[in-house]
Amino acid sequence: MMTAEDKKILERFPLLINSDIVYLDSAATTQKPAEVLKAVDDYYKTSNANPLRGLYELSVKATDIYEEARKKTADFINASSDEIVFTRNATESLNLIAYSYALNTLKPGDEVVVSIAEHHSNMLPWQFACKKTGAVLRYAECTKEGLLTPNMLEKLLTDKTKIVAIAQVSNVFGCENDIQSFVSLVHEKGAVFVCDGAQSVPHMKVDVRALGVDFMAFSGHKMYAPMGIGVLYTKKEILENMDPFLYGGEMIEYVTTEGATYAEVPHKFEAGTVNAGGAAGLSKAIDFINDIGFDYIEKRESYLSELMMTELRKIPHVNIIGDDNPSNHHGIVTFTVDDVHPHDIAAILDSDKIAVRAGHHCAQPLLKYLGVMSTARASMAVYNNSDDVMRFAESVKSLRKRLGYN
Ligand SMILES: Cc1ncc(COP(=O)(O)O)c(C=O)c1O
Repeated sequence: MMTAEDKKILERFPLLINSDIVYLDSAATTQKPAEVLKAVDDYYKTSNANPLRGLYELSVKATDIYEEARKKTADFINASSDEIVFTRNATESLNLIAYSYALNTLKPGDEVVVSIAEHHSNMLPWQFACKKTGAVLRYAECTKEGLLTPNMLEKLLTDKTKIVAIAQVSNVFGCENDIQSFVSLVHEKGAVFVCDGAQSVPHMKVDVRALGVDFMAFSGHKMYAPMGIGVLYTKKEILENMDPFLYGGEMIEYVTTEGATYAEVPHKFEAGTVNAGGAAGLSKAIDFINDIGFDYIEKRESYLSELMMTELRKIPHVNIIGDDNPSNHHGIVTFTVDDVHPHDIAAILDSDKIAVRAGHHCAQPLLKYLGVMSTARASMAVYNNSDDVMRFAESVKSLRKRLGYN
C-alpha cells in the first residue's frame, strides 16, 4: 500500500502524478521533479542570455547560475569547481577523456583495461583510442553476478597499463564494484583510473577524493536533472595538462590568425555556448537529492529491490540475473522469463502501463559473455513504491499465460 510518505515524494513528479504509468526505467533516465522543471523554466523566463560572454547584467546573471551549478556539482562529489567540466552526458565525458587524454598519452604497446561488464559508452571510446594509438585493449572478466573483484583486475595489470576504466555500479546488474581497492592497484602501476559513475552518482554518496579516482563521468538526466547536461570530474593536475576536446568560442584566452592560447580549466573544455538551462536544472536536482538524502534513497531502493526480487522469486519460470542480495542491486532487477522474448515481456508490461527496458542494455559483450541474448530490466528510483512493484509482479505473473504457455 502506498504510504503518505510515498505519496509526498510522488507528488513532486508531475509526469507520474498525472498518469497511471508505473515507471521502471530509471536506469535509462529518471523522471523530473517539479522544482527541476521550474528551475529550467525560470532560467529562460528571468535569466537567459549567453553566459560567460556578455558584460551586461542579464549575461552576468546567466553566468552566475551556470557557475553556481558547477560549484554545487563539485560539492556534491567532494571535488573543487575547477575540476568539473560540463558536457552533454556521461558518454561525452568518457569520449572527452579518450580524445583529450588517451590519444595524447598512449603509445603503441601500452595497455588499457576495461571490464567485460562495461556499458558501450565506457568501452567504445577505449576501442577507438587503442586503435588510433596502437595500444592494446584488455578485458577483465566478471563474476556471474556482474562483479569485478580486485583479484580479477590485478591479474590484468602490467607495467604497460596506462588507463583502467570501470563502472562503479553496473547498469545491467546494479551491483557495486570496490572502486577504492581498484584505484590502489591501478595507482601502484602508475596508471590512471576512470570511473563511470552514471549508475552510482544518482543512488549513493560518491566522494571522488575518498575513492581516489582520476576521472569520474556521469549524466544529469539519470539523477532527476534535464537531458543534455553531463559531468566530467578530473583531478586538477591532470586536467591542466590535457589538450582541449573541442575548439572554438568560449575556450580561448587569445586568438591570432596563427593560433590561440586557451582559457583556464575548466573553461578550456567547454567550447561554444553552454547549456545554462540544463545546469540550472542540475543544480535543483542536486538540491532535491540532498533534501531527500542518500540514507533515505539507499534504504528505499534496497527495500524496493528486495520486494521486487521476493515477488519475482514466487513466479515460476522467472530467472533473476545478478546477486542474490537485494542491497547490491541499487534499484536494478534484471530478469528473463522462460520461453518469452524480453521484447515480448516489455510489450506486455507496456499494455499494462508498466515501463521496463528490454534488450542488450548497451552491454552486448557482457550478455555474450553470460550466454544470454537479451534480458528485461526493471530499474527504480526514489519515486517508486510498493504499489508499483506489486502491479509489476502481477503483470509478470500473467505473462506466460497470456502468450499461451502454462
Ligand atoms: C553505466 C553507464 N555508463 C554510461 C552510460 C551512458 O549514459 P548517457 O547515455 O547519459 O551518456 C549509461 C547509460 O545508460 C550507463 O548506464
